[in-house]
Amino acid sequence: MPVHHQMIATRPDYAIARAAIENTTFARKNARAPRRREVVTIPVVVHVVYQQEAHNVSDGQIASQITVLNQDFRAANPDVSQVPAPFQSAVADTLIEFAPATTDPAGQPTSGIVRRRTAQAQFGDDDAVKFSSRGGSDAWPADRYLNLWVCNLVPWLGYAQFPGGPAETDGVVVAYHAFGNTGTATAPFNLGRTATHEIGHWLNLRHIWGDDGDACSGDDFVADTPNAAGPNFGVPTFPSITCGNGPNGDMFMNYMDYTDDRGMFMFTNGQSERMDAALSQARDSFVTKKVLDGMWAGVTESVMRT
Ligand code: ARG
Ligand code: ZN
Ligand code: CA
Repeated sequence: MPVHHQMIATRPDYAIARAAIENTTFARKNARAPRRREVVTIPVVVHVVYQQEAHNVSDGQIASQITVLNQDFRAANPDVSQVPAPFQSAVADTLIEFAPATTDPAGQPTSGIVRRRTAQAQFGDDDAVKFSSRGGSDAWPADRYLNLWVCNLVPWLGYAQFPGGPAETDGVVVAYHAFGNTGTATAPFNLGRTATHEIGHWLNLRHIWGDDGDACSGDDFVADTPNAAGPNFGVPTFPSITCGNGPNGDMFMNYMDYTDDRGMFMFTNGQSERMDAALSQARDSFVTKKVLDGMWAGVTESVMRT
């Protein structure tokens, strides 16, 4: 959110793009735009940027992260059964999958993994990791690949860029110790949920508590996530009531909260619709024309398709 606010303040083009994306998202919600039925597969390039060999995560660890993403976004994660009964009907299969890129930007075969040794001992949220000139690794074209950087990120587990920002910095960054579910992944953030959370942001999801500190006035612009005060941490006990949201309380087991990896295991239908809105506009380059046309069927395009 700090990076987002900084960009809103300094980049008029970003502010305008963000407004257009939210207008489209709101209009699609009003028009009850149809849910997509086809699976969309997003090609991923993983940039491993390491100074110490210990941070050079293995191919197997990268594969474990892709597996987690495919489970979490398809509601096929083993722990989805832990969703409390009152929230079960909100659980979404987002019909979004992820696959390592097989073709690089030059059209050559690739494993979808870029490894770069760096002189930088650590990275922050200033996007240095996204530029070779700053000790990182340059983004692949953001309209064709989800760029996922893995590095010694301090002090965060991860951060993401919302849709509507510059291509050179588009994508998500995840700390090597919070990536995948094997190797260097470290409890309690060792189940690959940081990437799930950050890719939620990359597809325009907000935090479930509305990013208003601990107030009850913020909104994540999703109807089926209860209004909540602030972030939850650890693994809370159900129900945890704030902002008069009883009897079921906060949906702290949602991927867009701040709970431990073993405490988060669902996206909602409303969040899936919001991600669809992103895929129907700012991120429509990941969707075939046929699927895209289906996503706009029956929706008044001249008004909404900005
Ligand atoms: N941007 C958040 C942070 O760095 C990510 C939180 C992810 N939560 C998790 N359980 N993996 O704190
Ligand atoms: Zn977040
Ligand atoms: Ca709130």
